[in-house]
Amino acid sequence: MQSLKGRDFLSLKDFSPEELWLLLKTAGYLKTGSYLHGQQEILSGKTLGMVFAKNSTRTRVSFEVAMRQLGGHALFLNAQDLQLGRGETIADTARVFSRYLDGIMIRTYAHDDAVELARYADIPVINGLTDWVHPCQALADIFTLYEKKGRVAGLKLAYVGDGNNVAHSLLYGGALFGMKVFVATPPAYRPSPVVVEEATAIAGETGGTVAVVDDPQEAVRGADAVYTDVWVSMGQEAEREERLAVFRPYQVNAELMALADERAVVLHCLPAHKGEEITEEVFEGPQSVVFDQAENRLHVQKAILAMLL
Ligand code: CP
Ligand code: NVA
Repeated sequence: MQSLKGRDFLSLKDFSPEELWLLLKTAGYLKTGSYLHGQQEILSGKTLGMVFAKNSTRTRVSFEVAMRQLGGHALFLNAQDLQLGRGETIADTARVFSRYLDGIMIRTYAHDDAVELARYADIPVINGLTDWVHPCQALADIFTLYEKKGRVAGLKLAYVGDGNNVAHSLLYGGALFGMKVFVATPPAYRPSPVVVEEATAIAGETGGTVAVVDDPQEAVRGADAVYTDVWVSMGQEAEREERLAVFRPYQVNAELMALADERAVVLHCLPAHKGEEITEEVFEGPQSVVFDQAENRLHVQKAILAMLL
């Protein structure tokens, strides 16, 4: 097994299934506390810079707590407050960061900006969400499925809603772990064909499958997990009315859930807009594991930080 030290974490597709399993196993150890003794030593004296160009509750708090629990520090850096906000280049920012920090987490709009940061930084860059993908989220989601179902390969994961950043990472992650990923979206909001093609190729190697469909019922029928995300992602606020109308038939509600396996779990990356992409009833219902899922961001990110920094 190759060391992950020094690697960037920009997209799940940059990792092999073996490497991702190593991260999940590490997350499991860190969560159960088998390695509790000595966790404070793991990143002792190390500092993570956390650049945020968008709002965040889970990513910000879980990364900061993760660094603290591993004995290091985290710095919250609002992108607008940095000289980046006044036009300093990403390349220069990356090289300056590399002289002070041991790792960078970035949440921003254009994925290319995270890639550019990683290109010029000589410390690991972790993607805390771009418009393109949300890899820490999807890895925590797969960890949650593993905890709940005892396996991931062969599970049917139905993602219903917008073919967005979260859907993209679930396509990559699900394919890498040999899952049957079904994504149901309105025709104009399908995931990128690039991602679908790449995920399909990965699934061909792992025994997984990838299907993009229009019909939420087809996606959810017999599913082991049903996943949704907001209909209006950060940066799309101007499209709100139009999106609410188009996505209405894609709501995860009791009627749709009735088609899933009776032991199916409900996942949502959060924040949720109850009454839009998911009903209050399903969100608060017995199949919902959304807060375990949110907790697992912490454990999975501790594993990522412990292995990469
Ligand atoms: N799921 C997620 O990334 O949440 P935040 O936007 O609160 O970080
Ligand atoms: N798709 C959402 C995810 C938030 C965690 C967004 O990009 O806003």
